Amino acid sequence: MPNPADPILSVQQIKKVYNGRLVLDNVSFDVQRGEVFVIMGGSGCGKSTMLRIMAGGVQPTSGKILFNGRDMSAVKGDEREKMRRRFGMSFQSAALLDYLTVEENVCLPIKEHTKLDPHIISIMAQTKLNLVGLQGFANFLPDALSGGMRKRAGLARAIAMDPEIVFYDEPTAGLDPVVCAVVDQLILDLTRKLQITSIVVTHNMESVFRIADRVAMLYQGRLLQVGTAQEIKNSSDPVVQQFIRGEIDGPIQMS
Ligand SMILES: Nc1ncnc2c1ncn2[C@@H]1O[C@H](COP(=O)(O)OP(=O)(O)OP(=O)(O)O)[C@@H](O)[C@H]1O
Ligand SMILES: [Mg+2]
Repeated sequence: MPNPADPILSVQQIKKVYNGRLVLDNVSFDVQRGEVFVIMGGSGCGKSTMLRIMAGGVQPTSGKILFNGRDMSAVKGDEREKMRRRFGMSFQSAALLDYLTVEENVCLPIKEHTKLDPHIISIMAQTKLNLVGLQGFANFLPDALSGGMRKRAGLARAIAMDPEIVFYDEPTAGLDPVVCAVVDQLILDLTRKLQITSIVVTHNMESVFRIADRVAMLYQGRLLQVGTAQEIKNSSDPVVQQFIRGEIDGPIQMS
């Protein structure tokens, strides 16, 4: 059993090169068990790449990720599959399949990873739909839902396999401010109720300070600062301050 005080994920000197271009440059930080950890930064600074590397979907060029103290790249085959099952993904691009009902979408990862009876899988999916407040919408097609409801269905799918860590890439992108707050609250509730660890990529500042226990700020592929939400708010780094305030004038260079 891992020691609860040890980090659940440890990001160690991660570098990622795409087409000869350094996209992540020597990034290191730890994620603690049970926290909401936010990765923020400007467009194209490497947030999604970082998240995918942490979730084991993309290989870093160098450096390693320790999951419960174990180097993820050293885990192969079946064991790697098992390990990745302990992660839930809510990626912006991984939208719901529009020809399946909400419940069928949530059932997908359970069907893929288990041989459970369809009736049991359906009950599991419905439990998750209840958790995200979508009871009664199991048989709807995604097209019949609002944007916020689709995001919630996506969250239900991300937690379908009772993961230890859920990764979210821009979970509130394109939502109005109220729905955005609802989704943020849901991320907080799920994290606390299910005792999971949530790792969230966002550049929505309101979301950051609503949900984050701790925040890592990436800038041009480097880790600029990591700290509690309060520490980031009070940061003396002018780039962090310009980003938080969304100011036009400051050190941030536009590419
Ligand atoms: N599969 C890939 N092949 C080549 N280049 C890539 C690939 N994925 C990402 N990149 C490049 O790496 C850089 C970082 O991309 P990434 O998607 O991680 O940024 P991001 O911070 O998530 O941006 P956004 O806020 O726009 O979502 C970008 O310049 C992007 O073009
Ligand atoms: Mg991205």
